[in-house]
Amino acid sequence: MKVLISGGGGFVASHLTELLLAEGHEVIAVDNFITGDRRNLEAVRDRPKFQLIEHDVSLPREYPAVDAVFHMASPASPVGYRTWPIETMLVNSQGTYHLLEHARKCGAKFLVASTSEAYGDPKVHPQTEDYWGNVNPVGVRACYDESKRYGEAMTMEYHRSLDTDTRIIRIFNTYGPRNQPDDGRVVPNFCMRALEGAPITVYGDGSQTRSFCFVSDLVEGIRRAMFTEGTAGEVINLGNPSEYTMLEFARFVNDLAGNKSEIVFEPLPESRKDDPMLRRPDISKAQRLLGWEPVVPPEEGLKRTLDWFRENALGTPASV
Ligand SMILES: NC(=O)c1ccc[n+]([C@@H]2O[C@H](COP(=O)([O-])OP(=O)(O)OC[C@H]3O[C@@H](n4cnc5c(N)ncnc54)[C@H](O)[C@@H]3O)[C@@H](O)[C@H]2O)c1
Repeated sequence: MKVLISGGGGFVASHLTELLLAEGHEVIAVDNFITGDRRNLEAVRDRPKFQLIEHDVSLPREYPAVDAVFHMASPASPVGYRTWPIETMLVNSQGTYHLLEHARKCGAKFLVASTSEAYGDPKVHPQTEDYWGNVNPVGVRACYDESKRYGEAMTMEYHRSLDTDTRIIRIFNTYGPRNQPDDGRVVPNFCMRALEGAPITVYGDGSQTRSFCFVSDLVEGIRRAMFTEGTAGEVINLGNPSEYTMLEFARFVNDLAGNKSEIVFEPLPESRKDDPMLRRPDISKAQRLLGWEPVVPPEEGLKRTLDWFRENALGTPASV
């Protein structure tokens, strides 16, 4: 198949690009690199079945006809969407619209990457797809949460009213090689501090929980969500249901890095006051519809991620 992947130069979509090329598909990546990195595409840049279009997908343009459109473009980390708040709102609204239009016109399948943030600070735990969420519509995270929710509504309307073959995935925290070391997310943050032997900061008492999915598991789930029969019109959580408190997770990363960094507690900064307390996906729908669940054990995923940070952010060979 010929597929278009918006945000192809980003963390998740560059892994998806590699997976789909390895399966023999033709991939057109579209990216303006506001939060992505050209180095993420180094391994595929010269492949005959790969093409890069540098473009802001919030703006209209003609694309080649394709069989499937993966709309993955959007700043994703708090650092990313606070640096680019308007661009984030546009890519999840206008960007979703332009790519849906393209999919509709060429009769392509469409998948949009939404987020667990669509559940806000959830009152239902673990989060099931039928939970509507608890989102502050004017808070510091709203540029991300609310624009993703708008993108979901638009995607569902294309399915309902225009019969476009769409699906929505809600991605929960994902980590792995090509995470940006300074994007403020938990895994890069803890890994970098632990590798540097610097104090690891836990906000509050560290009892907030998160669930972390290794990127190879996630992209396999994305592939199945697009290509499995019966997914049109569906909303599907993709994430790893193993749940850690932040304190447990800081200790876990610290032990794996082997540097015995100090763990320090700080009050939650103003910029993070809408952070959810609990986050864990209910993945029974993905298990049932896609036959998918994460298979990479956290020790293995974190070791691979720590190795990647050693080599790419600290400049130390992975064997050290
Ligand atoms: N990584 C996670 O844990 C996570 C969790 C939930 C949802 N998601 C979603 O998955 C997708 C990928 O996230 P990621 O972590 O790989 O982020 P990322 O920032 O690494 O990748 C996003 C890519 O989109 C590109 N982009 C942004 N705006 C664009 C625009 N207007 N036009 C063209 N390209 C544009 C960026 O340059 C970047 O390459 C995002 O939609 C994000 O919201 C990710």
